Amino acid sequence: MEVRPGQNTNGTPAWALITGASGGIGAELARLYAYRGWNLLLWGRDEGRLEAVARDCRRCGADVRIRALDLQDGHAAIASYREDDARTPIDLAILAAGLGDMKTADDATEKAETVLELGLVNYATPSAMAAAAAEAMVRRRRGHIVLVGSVAAFHAIPFAAAYSGSKAGLKRFAESLHMALSPHGVGVTLVSPGFVDTAMSRRVVGFKPFLQSAPSAARQIARAVERNRAHVVFPFLFSILRLVDVIVPWPLKRWILSRLKAGQVPRGEMTQDGQKK
Ligand SMILES: NC(=O)c1ccc[n+]([C@@H]2O[C@H](COP(=O)([O-])OP(=O)(O)OC[C@H]3O[C@@H](n4cnc5c(N)ncnc54)[C@H](OP(=O)(O)O)[C@@H]3O)[C@@H](O)[C@H]2O)c1
Repeated sequence: MEVRPGQNTNGTPAWALITGASGGIGAELARLYAYRGWNLLLWGRDEGRLEAVARDCRRCGADVRIRALDLQDGHAAIASYREDDARTPIDLAILAAGLGDMKTADDATEKAETVLELGLVNYATPSAMAAAAAEAMVRRRRGHIVLVGSVAAFHAIPFAAAYSGSKAGLKRFAESLHMALSPHGVGVTLVSPGFVDTAMSRRVVGFKPFLQSAPSAARQIARAVERNRAHVVFPFLFSILRLVDVIVPWPLKRWILSRLKAGQVPRGEMTQDGQKK
């Protein structure tokens, strides 16, 4: 059964869970789904910012619960998902939380701790949560899971191996899960955004082609869910770059990719809203 916009079959509001709801794309998705009549479980780390988003959603009439949890603790995330789902069955699980990072020009490699953190937050925990969501949704034969990846998954990025690697892992997981769950009436959508104007992209110093707003990204994600798309890439021009990456022979690709350059503002020097301190 398809998830109907914001409603259970008995006409009561359905519940959506959104991770990364304290800012950026996740917060915009929360506001959009509240406006469309969904009740919401909003997850993030920063309770104050989560509460501010929850207030906006409640003004639209949504019933909202927040949960502050660090996704580096995958076991806690699985247990919390099951607890939330047992209380109010989740029909839409949007796993949007993510963390970007890259090595600086002075470092030969990324820090081991950063590689582990990105692996947990961008790949391992969202995949495990998607599996927890799948168990419950398959039992009910309805529901939809959204995994937010990145166009970085399509390319080997020498200064952001942890980010591109973690998002490539998530992409493969989402594609496999989509095929596995289709016969059970459960949808899976992989989202691969290019640059979106949020705290994450504001840390990046350098050219950000085709930068989009977070509300626009949220609308495109909601449209992909409505259409039960397996994969959405936006803006569209990144789909062409993806094809180029497939077609171009490896030595040329390696030459191009090894010349790419970008920098970032260190995490401690940005406010949580993505402004420089
Ligand atoms: N912005 C872009 O250009 C872009 C491009 C491609 C893909 N994406 C993907 O889009 C998704 C949303 O990113 P965004 O741009 O909206 O970034 P953002 O504004 O920085 O928001 C990231 C969200 O993830 C949460 N988060 C980060 N680390 C976490 C952790 N350890 N535990 C729990 N929550 C954590 C943050 O929560 P707290 O703030 O409460 O810690 C925040 O709510 C990410 O998966 C990202 O990789 C973004």
